[in-house]
Formats: sequence, structure tokens, C-alpha cells
Amino acid sequence: MSGSEIAKAWAALEAHRQSWCARTIADLFAADPHRFDRFHVRLDDLLFDFSKHRLDDETLGLLIDLARAANVEARRAALFAGEPVNVTEHRPALHMALRNLSGAPMFAGGRDVMPDVLAELRKIFEFAEAVRNGEITAANGQRFTDIVNFGIGGSDLGPAMAGRALSPFIADHLSLHFVANVDGADFADTMRRIPVETTLFVVCSKTFTTIETMTNAETARKFVASRLGEAAVPDHFCAVSTQLDKIAAFGIKSDRVFGFWDWVGGRYSIWSAIGLSLAIGIGKDNFEEFLRGGEDIDKHFAAAPLERNIPVLMALLGVWYRNLWGYATHAVIPYDQRMARFSAYLQQLDMESNGKTATLDGARTGRATAPVIWGEPGTNGQHAFFQLLHQGTEIVPIDFLIAAEPTAADEKHHELLFANCLAQSQAFMLGRSIDEVAARLEAQKMSPEAIAALAPHRLFEGNRPSSTFLYQRLTPRALGRLIALYEHKVFVQGVIWNVNSYDQWGVELGKELAVKLTPIVADADLSTTGLDSSTAGLIEARRRLGVA
Ligand code: F6P
Repeated sequence: MSGSEIAKAWAALEAHRQSWCARTIADLFAADPHRFDRFHVRLDDLLFDFSKHRLDDETLGLLIDLARAANVEARRAALFAGEPVNVTEHRPALHMALRNLSGAPMFAGGRDVMPDVLAELRKIFEFAEAVRNGEITAANGQRFTDIVNFGIGGSDLGPAMAGRALSPFIADHLSLHFVANVDGADFADTMRRIPVETTLFVVCSKTFTTIETMTNAETARKFVASRLGEAAVPDHFCAVSTQLDKIAAFGIKSDRVFGFWDWVGGRYSIWSAIGLSLAIGIGKDNFEEFLRGGEDIDKHFAAAPLERNIPVLMALLGVWYRNLWGYATHAVIPYDQRMARFSAYLQQLDMESNGKTATLDGARTGRATAPVIWGEPGTNGQHAFFQLLHQGTEIVPIDFLIAAEPTAADEKHHELLFANCLAQSQAFMLGRSIDEVAARLEAQKMSPEAIAALAPHRLFEGNRPSSTFLYQRLTPRALGRLIALYEHKVFVQGVIWNVNSYDQWGVELGKELAVKLTPIVADADLSTTGLDSSTAGLIEARRRLGVA
């Protein structure tokens, strides 16, 4: 659709936004006892409750108008058709093919990718099962006990997050570990805890050039050679990349090399061979279930009308708060300790995808794009940053995530967890007025003067929006669904903000400068002349501390 229709849709939303000044979410619930029924969507056991938002039918209609004006439906079709939606790198973004278990053709550059995808998946499963059941062993003939994944960003966060989320599904005799940071402490602290004799190292890097991963892999190679002998090295390494020639140079056996394709963005690669360590941990059947969860959401996203389409609704709510209310951050709070890395995972997914200023045609955007995504598990967050969420001057829209029942945990604990999750979203929505506060203090026989002094500090303004995702249990399929929901949400927001969600040029400058600075940091004889005074001053200060 035309630019003028998009402008009209934004203008209608801006006018509508003004009508919200005097209304609260609590008013909407009071006026409509069926509000929950009208503002939730169910997909099997997954329920998305978006009733606790500053939203009515008109708001929703106007947001859907914006999505239509921005051509979300046509752009969605282009995404699934394998068109080069990543316009700066001239590539499709076809991660959906990785979880297309039906094998129905999907095309990238006019070629059906499914035969290659399914063949690679079979190879991954064969290797993963052989490591699990001890057919593939360590150099000493023993079964592997520990898997160490080297990777960073998308080559770490996905398997690390999912490995923790799905820990009850990991074989008892295996432990997964994730080393990402170029800080040598990451590798050293990991290896202090585990026996190298029965450790398999998985080197994951889409480009196979990332300095952190290559440095850690080289260090590990030397470590294995020094502890177990050079001959043991091939038995203890395998690798995942799109750059198979570079892997050969590292000396990894050709039957331990797993590939994927340039149409899989790093932050969308958990579904590919990058998930190898996870597949070893949870096994073929569970990994397939994980993929099936992603596939469920692809089908829903591709077919459901925009008004009942969960990723579309998530995206539009985000746009509503980011662009019309000016809220700069968005919290994701899983009430699930095993989901402790989920927000970190979403940070890369969302902020690396839509943290952009240039629109598709290269102009500078006039609108805010991705918010800062952050979060920690509940209930822990309640005792830390929830103070600000309840009474601070920043309004932070929140996603609460919770399972109806625990996986391998105590039922009594889960009742408490569940009640806390609901209590928080209720408290954010309802708040507590100054009159209610005063009445409670009066009932405690407090003097009027003391009440007047204390009441403002105990006031909760409420009207703070949140969504809740409820699902039966945190199974591989449930996790697959959650991840894919957020992936498609990010896509829809990218379409509305008219940015390329699939490149990440913003990470390049720092990498380049680090390459230039490393020799100067390493060699005290090299001059700092020509550097800005802060950078030079810090390098010289380090030298004065006797380092380098
Ligand atoms: O620096 C950012 C980034 O390129 C991410 O997009 C990517 O997930 C990560 O680095 C790791 O890259 P690679 O898998 O090529 O090592």
C-alpha cells in the first residue's frame, strides 16, 4: 500500500491515543465482564492473554489497519516464499524451512531447500544418537559425559538457553556447557569442573571467523593435545558452520562437520545444526518435538487472520507502546527458573534484528524502532527491580510466561509460583489508589497526619500493561512455539518500522576497531599516538599497571 495510507494509519492511531488519557485498563475490566474472553487467543494448550492492555476494539482495529497499510500480509508471503527479504545481503530469511518437518518444498533462490535440510537433519540425529548411546566415544573408548559448545551470539544463546530450559529432558549421563566469552575465564572455569577425557567440544560459528569462538576453540585444541595427546584431538571435536572449507583447515574430521546455509541468520539458527549440542542432550525425538513447536507457529502465523494471529498481536502491542506511548523498554519475565536465559536470547533476536535507524530505502527513520528488551525470571525479579515497575516513573510493558504445571519440580512450589505470576499482572493492572491506601492505614488506627505522610509512598498508580502466555508444561514443543512466536513478532515489527530485520551491520565497527587495537594492547612498544586521548590514556594506564 501507499505511503499516504501508512501515514493515515499512524495519524489515526495518534488521534486515538489522545482518547486514552482518562481511561484505565481497570475501567475496561469493570465495564466488560467478558473482556478476557474477547482479548485472548488459544492455540492448543498455549494461551495468549492480551486483555491487560490499554486496548479496546477501536485500538485493535486501528493497529490492524496499520499492519495492512504496511503490507504485513504480502511481506509475510514474501518471507515464506524465500524472497530476498534481507535486502542488504541479498538473501532470504528462511529459518522456517529448518522446522518444516513435512518436507513440503520451500524455495531459496528458486531452489527447493528441503532435500538438503532434511538430509542434514538426519546426519545431525545420527551423530547425536551415536554420542548419546556410546557408539561414538572419547579417545579412551569411554562414553562422553560432557558436551562443551563454543559459539557466541546466535551460535551460543539458542542452545544455551534451550539447554537450560529443557534440562529435565537431557540424558542423565550428559551435561551441556556453553563457552562464549573471549574472556579466558569462561573456558578455564568450565574445564575446572569437568573431565576433559570424556568431553566433546562442538565448535559453532556460522562464519567460522568469529574471534571469540576461534580463540576458545584453539585454546581447547591445545588443552586437549596437552592433556590427552595430539592423536586424541579428532575424537574430541566436531564443528558446525556454513563455511565448510574453513572447518577443514581447523583439522576436524569430515564426518563430524555439520552445515547450514546463508539464508539462516545467526539469531535464527537454533533450529539448524547450531542446535547440535542441544540435540545430543535431549535426543532426536525431543529435538523433533522442538522443531514441531516452531512449525506449529509457522502454520498459525501464515494462516490466522491478523486479528487472531498471536505474533501479529504481540508485534502491534509493541508498536502501540513504543511509538504511540513512547515506552522505551519491554520486559520478558518467565515464571520459570529454567527459562533464566530466555530474555537474553530475546535480546539478540529482537535488538539485533530491529535495532536499526536506516529504513529499507536507506533513509533515516522518523520513528522509534526496537525497544530495549530485558528481564529475569520471576519470582526473583519481584525482590529486585519490580519496585521500579510498580512505582517508578518509567512504564514498562511486560510479557509474563508461565506453565500450568511444572516439569520435574515440586507441585507445591508451582502453586506459589503461579499465584505470584498472576498477582503481579493483577497488581500492575489494578494498582491501589490513594483512597484505598488511606482506608487501609485508617483500619490500622494510624493518625491522619501519619496517613497523609505515608500514603503517597504506598500508592500504586496501576494501569501498567502486560501480556500473559500460559502453556501446559515447558516441553520441547512448548519452547519451540514460544521462540517462533517471538521470531515472527520481530518480523512484523520490522515490516511496520520498514527496517531490514535480517542484517546486523551495527556489530561491525566495534569488531574492526578491536582488531586494530589488539596489537597495541599486546605490545607496549607500539605507540598510542593517533588514538583518541581516552583510548590512549586507558592503554597507557594499563601499561603503568605493569601489564604489556
Ligand atoms: O557479531 C554478531 C554476530 O555476527 C551475530 O549475528 C552472530 O550470531 C554472532 O556474531 C556469531 O557469529 P558466528 O556464528 O559467525 O560466529
